[in-house]
Amino acid sequence: MAGITNGQFCSKMSIYGFDVLTIGGYNADKKAINAGLKIIKRGRPEFNINENRLYQHIEEEIKLIKSHPNYHGKVSVNLRSSSPNPIIEISKIEELDIIEINAHCRQPELIESGCGQALLENPEILYDFVSEVVKSCKKKVSVKIRANVSGVDDIEIAKAVNDAGADYIHIDAMNPGHDCADFSIIKSIRNNVDLFIIGNNSIRDLESARQMLSAGADGISIARAAMNGTLPFDLSSV
Ligand SMILES: Cc1cc2nc3c(=O)[nH]c(=O)nc-3n(C[C@H](O)[C@H](O)[C@H](O)COP(=O)(O)O)c2cc1C
Repeated sequence: MAGITNGQFCSKMSIYGFDVLTIGGYNADKKAINAGLKIIKRGRPEFNINENRLYQHIEEEIKLIKSHPNYHGKVSVNLRSSSPNPIIEISKIEELDIIEINAHCRQPELIESGCGQALLENPEILYDFVSEVVKSCKKKVSVKIRANVSGVDDIEIAKAVNDAGADYIHIDAMNPGHDCADFSIIKSIRNNVDLFIIGNNSIRDLESARQMLSAGADGISIARAAMNGTLPFDLSSV
């Protein structure tokens, strides 16, 4: 969650038994940084980190999380960029385990700059983007997508991510007009790709977590339910 999930926030999460804690999303190229500044102006939380300091900043945030005595899991960073190179550069941070390409955020400023959800507009472009990152970085690669975006074929997108060689697909199974995730889209993607699926959206209790796993996700992720720095249910019972 941009503007919220930094090293300090993730340190609070370190006691809950997560396998992965994700920091960001950070704006990694000039276009995304400029989009972020516009988003800040209209009052939405964002991380405002200068492009020249971003590598060092992320390095420090990861160190903070990993120095927590209760945390033994991995750290991932969610990055918005209109091109693969800034993502490849940041993947060189030694203590980073997973690099996450943001093909998810839908703020108009980000889409206009070719980041976030804009990457879903053309599966071939997404394929090239993800392939470049996979080829050039030594870390695990995750791609975060938003499902049920008008005009986007989720299966085509998942196949592009799969064929490009990513390790994880992180799916925000947004279900417009409903207070729960769209489990049917997780099932459909499960039936079409062998990728490790991280199912996301509206997980707030044991029931919603179990439903996501029953739909075919290999893991779950939680954002808003943990926004106040605590987790409202026991992960180990999932
Ligand atoms: C304030 C806020 C900021 C967010 N920023 C990002 C972001 O930068 N990158 C991203 O991939 N998702 C971002 N998200 C989306 C969440 O990670 C998550 O996909 C979404 O909220 C649905 O999951 P949930 O129901 O568990 O909250 C943000 C969500 C919120 C509420």
